Amino acid sequence: MNIILLGAPGAGKGTQATKISDGYGLPHISTGDIFRENIKNQTPIGVLAKSFIDKGQLVPDEVTCKIVEERIAREDCKNGYMLDGFPRTIAQAEALDKIANIDLVINIQVDFGDVMERLCGRRVCKDCGESYHVSRLNGATTCSRCGGELYQRKDDNPETVQSRLEVYSAQTEPLIAYYTKKGLLFNVVSDSTPEATYEKVSAKLDALLK
Ligand code: AP5
Repeated sequence: MNIILLGAPGAGKGTQATKISDGYGLPHISTGDIFRENIKNQTPIGVLAKSFIDKGQLVPDEVTCKIVEERIAREDCKNGYMLDGFPRTIAQAEALDKIANIDLVINIQVDFGDVMERLCGRRVCKDCGESYHVSRLNGATTCSRCGGELYQRKDDNPETVQSRLEVYSAQTEPLIAYYTKKGLLFNVVSDSTPEATYEKVSAKLDALLK
């Protein structure tokens, strides 16, 4: 099963991806995580990506598509994978069509008004990448999954979140129509808790696997 997780910044793609990966054993491929790892290791891709990510803009399609092509060619993706945050442009979707058969696109819908609060209050584990919101941490500064230190992403500030939302509307939202036309889109509203959202997602995945 090859899945795409689509949605605005802060919709809950990473949160659902962790749950799906735990529940269905699919490798979780997040282009955002791959870029952040490269930034941490100061690789040439990391240096390039940082100049875009810090401004809330997209990393160029050629760079992003090559990374994904190499990643999904690996052995662990033989029986399926989950793409989180890719594709984000029509050009990326067309490039993906040439190298993959997608079974389902889960479009996580969120009110833009909720995104600012979610992202500016988000804390992420340095070690396993698990995402939390300060309001549910009760003052904890370490990850409840692995004990790693929690940090705030550099692009989770009001100004950069605003430009990420604008980029989403202009460049990523057209993918909703693109995948609707292909009959692959499944809409799920991310309006209550991550657990409630996952219930709806897993019901869909179970139905697909039957
Ligand atoms: P990326 O890391 O993919 O960021 P993003 O798409 O902006 O998404 P986020 O990770 O911010 O949010 P999310 O939807 O995963 O939400 P989360 O689950 O954490 O990309 C970063 C940058 O890399 C991009 O801006 C771009 O520059 C570059 N990039 C990446 N991919 C690219 C591509 N394909 N092409 C070009 N450039 C690319 O949840 C957010 C918060 O909400 C958390 O605190 C969580 O606890 C909470 N929450 C989640 N679900 C719920 C719920 N149902 N109810 C209440 N709270 C919830």
